[in-house]
Amino acid sequence: MSQKSHSHAQWSSRLAFTLAAVGSAVGLGNIWKFPYMVGQSGGAAFVLVYLVCIALIGLPILMSEWLLGRLGQKNPIATMSEISRRLKRSKAWTLVGVGGVLGAYLILSFYSVIGGWALIYTGYSASGIFTDLTSDSVGNLFSGLLASPGTLLLWHSVFMILTIAVVMGGVAGGLERAAKTLMPALGILLVVLVIYAATTPGFAAGVNYLFNPDWSKLNGEVVLAAMGHAFFTLSLGMGIMMAYGSYLSDDVNIGRTALTVVVMDTVIALLAGMAIFPIVFSNGLDAASGPGLIFQTLPLAFGHMTGGSVFGVLFFLLLVFAAWTSAISLLEPIVEWLEERSSLNRVGATLVAGLAVWLLGVASVLSFNLWSGVAPLGIFAHFAGMTVFDLLDYVTSKVMLPLTGLAAVIFVAWKMGRDEVRSQLNMSDGAFSLWHFIARFIAPLGVLAVFVSGLWI
Ligand code: PHE
Repeated sequence: MSQKSHSHAQWSSRLAFTLAAVGSAVGLGNIWKFPYMVGQSGGAAFVLVYLVCIALIGLPILMSEWLLGRLGQKNPIATMSEISRRLKRSKAWTLVGVGGVLGAYLILSFYSVIGGWALIYTGYSASGIFTDLTSDSVGNLFSGLLASPGTLLLWHSVFMILTIAVVMGGVAGGLERAAKTLMPALGILLVVLVIYAATTPGFAAGVNYLFNPDWSKLNGEVVLAAMGHAFFTLSLGMGIMMAYGSYLSDDVNIGRTALTVVVMDTVIALLAGMAIFPIVFSNGLDAASGPGLIFQTLPLAFGHMTGGSVFGVLFFLLLVFAAWTSAISLLEPIVEWLEERSSLNRVGATLVAGLAVWLLGVASVLSFNLWSGVAPLGIFAHFAGMTVFDLLDYVTSKVMLPLTGLAAVIFVAWKMGRDEVRSQLNMSDGAFSLWHFIARFIAPLGVLAVFVSGLWI
């Protein structure tokens, strides 16, 4: 991906493109964030709303972003200004690109801290400490980690260095190729975990929790969380998919490819849920325990299954890898933007951007210990008790990504000619009419309705 600002190459194949998009989409969002959000939101009702959001909002917006990128053939900000000039639309549409760069910056700062957790847990599993864990000690292990700002900082730094190294060296292509074997390996390991989970007494309860909705758990807040996560998990609303789209050759079918990415992303998340909740119920753990959920459940499984330490190391390594490919896709647009806006070369721009991300990440590190009682927006009831980490997550997933994605789909569905969109998407008449209807009405109204209910009701 990283050569984009130098020579504008096209993807060698649909496969290479799909892998890069999956590499960005599949990450901590699927395996770390999805399960804990399900747990905090009370289970299946959240899952079902999330699936509806993926299908009716995520998929059309993903297609819109790729379509814009392919038309504009530039970075997201330049793409938006170029297309709006050509179509004689307001320059304000460029903000879609700007919002994306800012969003990527904020997200990567805390994403890297969690990437650090995955690194530490790789080490924990290699050291064999999972073998004697009980439900209590697995919790203590995790809370001990959170209480240690030095350790968190160290591994946040390591994760950032890994990310910077790849973006700086422009070797992301190699990493994308590695994704070809590593992503399926991650999928297979998740299946192994689900099979293990199926042997535990809590399996039925876990699956029930995940798929059998208790609608009384549904409220505006839950729906907003589900929609925000649909954006986060598909890497939408940040110009990232738009940038990828600029590498897409004309013969690639956007609809079919988008469907592939969305299905893979969703399957990985659901598998993670099916592995984790049975363990939660079998061990009497708290499903609503928050961001530590996978770190307090999976080690128990690895500690008890045969070959668990090997699986444990492999699993956390693959998780690191999935997080890494996503982190690279987050750093790339910031670096590109800096490179264009300043006199810095690629190495300089990567170092400056990486350092800025790392610095903000320190605030997230501290949110779990020294600043755990600091709620910067605590004077507003809505944000009471939210740490810096909570706020960064809230503002990006629940506000910025949906707004930027909304603007992208409105642009495509309302500001571009129907025929131009049509020729880009290359679908049958019926399928296109349905898509256009969803893109014009369902997706934008859906985002707006969720906003109103989640923020004000
Ligand atoms: N989609 C990634 C994940 O689920 C996170 C991400 C968000 C990556 C936004 C890029 C942009 O982990």
